[in-house]
Amino acid sequence: MNLAVFASGRGSNFEAIMASVKSGVLRVSVPLVVCDTPGAGVLKLAEKEGVEAALIERACFAGRKEFEDAIHAQLHNHAIDAIALAGFMRMLSPAFVSAYRNRIINIHPALLPSFKGANAIADAFAYGVRVTGVTVHFVDEEMDSGPIILQRHVAVEPQDTLETLEQRIHEVEHELYPHALKLFAEGKLAISGRKVEILT
Ligand code: GRF
Repeated sequence: MNLAVFASGRGSNFEAIMASVKSGVLRVSVPLVVCDTPGAGVLKLAEKEGVEAALIERACFAGRKEFEDAIHAQLHNHAIDAIALAGFMRMLSPAFVSAYRNRIINIHPALLPSFKGANAIADAFAYGVRVTGVTVHFVDEEMDSGPIILQRHVAVEPQDTLETLEQRIHEVEHELYPHALKLFAEGKLAISGRKVEILT
């Protein structure tokens, strides 16, 4: 299976995925990173890993259709079967989601459906929750809303600062995402409506 990773930021989840691939646990090829942000950390990491990175900036295209056409061309060139969103800060259009139906996976740093959006860790911390966590889910047309594959909780401790909480959430992400992708790559996820059954 050829997996593309889409990222806009520092790329620590991309690194965790690559570590799992290199250790032979996650049996996929990652021939392509798609990034929409010049200077993003993930671009350097891709270079270090020897993975081709396509920098595709929304501002360089007249509309979302043209932007996504450029992404599609890259996916086609690399015979991509599935996509892992890892901090990709852009909504994909319904047409794009439908072209890769049940083949786009996302990681979100909260227990969905709580704290959707770009500031999930800070929002949960500010809200004062005692428990938050990480969700890996299939992508549908809505933001942070598709069928849930795996979730893991992270307790918020009284002495936590936003930074310490962020650190623990990222540690969980780096374990959970490769694990969820492994289940997917091995054909162990059966989707029925909103429910994802994990086959053993
Ligand atoms: C992660 O917290 C992920 O859950 C969210 O964006 C962040 C990306 O971090 N969707 P990184 O770029 O993988 O370090």
